[in-house]
Amino acid sequence: MTQDEQKRAAAEAAIQYVPENCIVGVGTGSTANYFIDALARIKHKIEGAVASSEATSSRLAAHGIRVFDLNDIDSLTVYIDGADEINRDLQMIKGGGGALTREKIVAAVAETFVCVADQNKIVQILGKFPLPVEVIPMARSHVARQIMRLGGQPALREGFITDNGNIILDVRGLQIHHPAELEASLDEITGIVTNGLFAKRGADVLLLGTDKGVETISR
Ligand code: 5RP
Repeated sequence: MTQDEQKRAAAEAAIQYVPENCIVGVGTGSTANYFIDALARIKHKIEGAVASSEATSSRLAAHGIRVFDLNDIDSLTVYIDGADEINRDLQMIKGGGGALTREKIVAAVAETFVCVADQNKIVQILGKFPLPVEVIPMARSHVARQIMRLGGQPALREGFITDNGNIILDVRGLQIHHPAELEASLDEITGIVTNGLFAKRGADVLLLGTDKGVETISR
């Protein structure tokens, strides 16, 4: 299977985690897009979806799936999203598409987080993929200095503004042996809106597209 076929297989397998009559949280990226396309086929069985980005919202709406504001719902049974890297403890780096803040918010509300990914995303130690950090624009230099103190090398994602009107610093050079601790340390830096470590709230289930089919890894 190609990488795209693995993404599609994992995304399609996630449909089994969507209960009837529910509102489903939907992530952002190419794997999430495959999930949206699969969701469209059962759209008559669900109430609708909450989107983690403007791009996802548009794709859901284009399929005729009702998009709810997160503030208008009390709970969310399941959130389906991809990852840039994921370890065997189901901790992730996310934000390659720049949607990390809304993704983390929707994930925080969901009872179950199902990550859908191809086999290239699984790693022993997080950090080869540059860690995305969403930053308030006026704090860019301050945040960059603080990140360098933690051993990272931040680079501005050129020409990119998030759905929230902020910038992204992509941080290289981090060997992330303790993801939850680093996530908490980054959260303490004034000016950072969100960092792309999803360790405190990792995934509950990983559906991993491989050459041999879809592997399910649960916590
Ligand atoms: C977007 C994300 C995506 O989940 C991540 O970038 C994976 O993307 P893809 O499914 O295209 O490989 O975090 O902000």
